[in-house]
Amino acid sequence: MTRSFDRMLDKAFHGKSVADILNASPAALQGLSASDAQRLEEVFGIRTIRDLARNRFFQRSLALLNASGETHFDPGPPVQWRDFLASAPLDYYVHHASRRFRIDFGPVYYRGRLDGTARILVVGQDPSTNEILGQRILVGSSGQRVQGFLRKLGITRSYVMANLFLFSVFGQVDAELRAIALEEPILTFRNSFFDRLAQENNLQAVVVIGKGAQLAVDNWPGSQEHPVFEIQHPAALDEAAVLATWNSALTLLRPIVEPDDDGSPDPSPYGSSFAPEDAAPIPRFDLPFGLPEWHGNGSHSHRDGNKNIVWTAP
Ligand code: URA
Repeated sequence: MTRSFDRMLDKAFHGKSVADILNASPAALQGLSASDAQRLEEVFGIRTIRDLARNRFFQRSLALLNASGETHFDPGPPVQWRDFLASAPLDYYVHHASRRFRIDFGPVYYRGRLDGTARILVVGQDPSTNEILGQRILVGSSGQRVQGFLRKLGITRSYVMANLFLFSVFGQVDAELRAIALEEPILTFRNSFFDRLAQENNLQAVVVIGKGAQLAVDNWPGSQEHPVFEIQHPAALDEAAVLATWNSALTLLRPIVEPDDDGSPDPSPYGSSFAPEDAAPIPRFDLPFGLPEWHGNGSHSHRDGNKNIVWTAP
């Protein structure tokens, strides 16, 4: 335990390990008395500092505070998500015999709300370079088009996004990758992730971006419980065909998806190709603290053909 925690604790706990302190009664916190701790136990069943930190009412209050717009960055997964995300089968990806995953820069897990306020689950395929650098999915050109799609529904922040794969893939999602996507433990982890998102949020719709994402949702038993809308991937070449599916989905989504308070639903349909204004910048509250202001607006990275990502400031 670093000495810097001492000022939060009663003297008897100074210098103790984090594990010991988390297992101690909340009365070890300076300013919280033994009778306060007793009341916490009586009312909430809280016996330790760990229980206090994980208590769902405190967690929800914190989520509300964060959702009030006071933070201009995404602080990362809340404590109740950390053990689950840490259980992702990263070794399985890294050592996969197919060598189809780009493992050098690590996985990217999600984007959006993990605080129970999502009403739309967006499912994508795999992260690319902008996503790796931003450590959030769908933040590059495709993500900004998807953000524009949500904006048309008046959704400004009540979404969460997850991909078919945690790692970027080499090439297209072909027969080999489609089979790998259904291998254990990839399948079970992804389905548990989706199940948990569905349990913790009042999802009004699942929006599925392209064929790879569709594979994920087709193999998620929990998808039966939700209205599912497949739209073509924004990076597909035939933009007229892509946007026809986006227009149809919008027509079906508008009556069932409630806009956010600060959203302005836009009833105008897409044209036959993407216009620059169809893309929306990724909100700062979706991105980690300290990323350059231009990340999430335009595309600023690519691979050089080797193991390098080239990141260019505008
Ligand atoms: N496309 C996807 O489907 N997912 C991403 O994370 C990025 C691009």
